[in-house]
Amino acid sequence: AIERTFSIIKPDAVAKNHIGAIYNRFESAGLKIIASKMVHLSKEQAEGFYAEHSARPFFGALVSFMTSGPVMVQVLEGENAVLANREIMGATNPAEAARGTLRADYAASIDENAVHGSDAVESAAREIAYFFSAEEVCQRTR
Ligand code: CMP
Repeated sequence: AIERTFSIIKPDAVAKNHIGAIYNRFESAGLKIIASKMVHLSKEQAEGFYAEHSARPFFGALVSFMTSGPVMVQVLEGENAVLANREIMGATNPAEAARGTLRADYAASIDENAVHGSDAVESAAREIAYFFSAEEVCQRTR
């Protein structure tokens, strides 16, 4: 089915000028970018986005990292977009990420791991709404 998923290019990958290379991976895999913007997250925005992780030991470091510089946030649309994007990204820990994935190629550690992607269609809808208004998400008919 055609799905939408939410994606973040994290501060490490933005700082290293990998935005274009990462967008190329999405587009080459047939995913369409239907919304996109650069944002520098506030502490409150990062804490709210990652609320499900608030009890985890890495939460403070995660929020600190995610607010350390601008990120690119985007909505990707395509066939099985949620799983397709997870395959493009590779495992959360770059040490375990398959060759040719974004995390294998661009991530330095599990904390600074270049990209985020939704883990399910339901979380994708919530994450998209967290960053984009309905008018900011475009219809791509061609
Ligand atoms: P992300 O998909 O953005 O969701 C939460 C982030 O927490 C995750 O990517 C990792 O970058 C980071 N993180 C740090 N330590 C861990 C861990 N032990 N397990 C899962 N995520 C972790």
